[in-house]
Amino acid sequence: MSPTLEEMQRRDVADPLRAMRDAFDLPPGEIYLDGNSLGALPHATARRIADTVRSEWGNGLIRSWNKADWIGTPARIGGKIAAIVGARPDEVLVADSTSVNLYKLLVAAMQAQAGRSVILSEPGNFPTDLYVAQGVAATLPECALRTVPRDQIAAAIDENVAVVMLTHVHYQSGARFDMDAITRAAQAKGALMLWDLSHSAGAVPVDLNAANADLAIGCGYKYLNGGPGAPAFLFVAERHQARLRSPLTGWMGHAAPFDFTDDYAPSEGIRRFLCGTPPILGMAALEEGVDLMLSVDRAALFAKGQMLCSAFIDLVEDRCAGLGLEVLTTRDPKARGSHVSLRHAQAWPVMQALIARGVIGDFRAPDALRFGFTPLYTSHVDVWHAVEALRDVLVSGSWNHPDFHVRAAVT
Ligand SMILES: Cc1ncc(COP(=O)(O)O)c(C=O)c1O
Repeated sequence: MSPTLEEMQRRDVADPLRAMRDAFDLPPGEIYLDGNSLGALPHATARRIADTVRSEWGNGLIRSWNKADWIGTPARIGGKIAAIVGARPDEVLVADSTSVNLYKLLVAAMQAQAGRSVILSEPGNFPTDLYVAQGVAATLPECALRTVPRDQIAAAIDENVAVVMLTHVHYQSGARFDMDAITRAAQAKGALMLWDLSHSAGAVPVDLNAANADLAIGCGYKYLNGGPGAPAFLFVAERHQARLRSPLTGWMGHAAPFDFTDDYAPSEGIRRFLCGTPPILGMAALEEGVDLMLSVDRAALFAKGQMLCSAFIDLVEDRCAGLGLEVLTTRDPKARGSHVSLRHAQAWPVMQALIARGVIGDFRAPDALRFGFTPLYTSHVDVWHAVEALRDVLVSGSWNHPDFHVRAAVT
């Protein structure tokens, strides 16, 4: 049975996180279900950016590297994200993009695993993960990317696998791997385990240390609300930090960058995975998003995310039955992230028609409508209205307007 509007209103009244919505600058009259692509703007971020620009950059100028601790941002914000992903503060660093961090960790892992040549992943992993792994394989001698379907991963790990590279929550289906079980299976065969947490950090419980994970990466601009193109994070378990070496040996990862010597020597600890100068405006925005995430009870946050997903699936199955939709995401809350995908033969124009009605989700090729439920600012009533709008778009056929068939550069 799907919930009624009255029931969703009751859930909002009882929601311990309902005040958090006021912390965000959301356009009135819209329902934003795309926080898993680009998190919303916190009010505090606009103030922080203005202050960083005017006061720290404008007045402090070069002094702010020390006085405002700009130089400490990668480790400081990394230490905060560590609390969200179950790591120690000195195991997480904010730097570069997710793709670049993946490159650094994959090459470091391959070089540390002498005699092993395979990066193991699944077909349909997020494209950048597969593309970066293909680039690593093309660059390193004796390295190959092998992909096997997700239910065969554990069985496919053998003595030739150097690193198992998987996305914890799948970007499209929302399917969530059992982090403990897969990590155990990889390590039982001597492989390192690398998790992409882009759709997990701030969306579902993650405990890298409890799972004994080796390596991880993730985005700052999704559930962490770090802003468009926010710097990403990387995790290297403390036990590996001394032996793993970043292939991007920039000066910020040097043991003594301001000695200006000619020869590279890696820093101790996680800082060796820095490359160049941190982007301070992006760092400031990310820190506000992370601080907001740290200010709430995350068990309540994740429970609400799952309630929103379940209600959405129930409502779609009830209110949109017979309208050409197929739910691609599992009904099991423990086996999914905080987004839900629906298949529809006309997914692109349907999503454009929905966006025109003020319900913002996204389209993922070839035929998926994807809806992210970011529990910091999505209400239960939002979910109810979103499904009614989807039903209306499908019943009325309003999606079949020529304008909605035009593909944009970014989908
Ligand atoms: C699983 C996953 N990895 C990586 C990325 C993006 O990487 P980058 O920030 O380098 O563009 C995304 C973006 O949506 C993603 O979903």
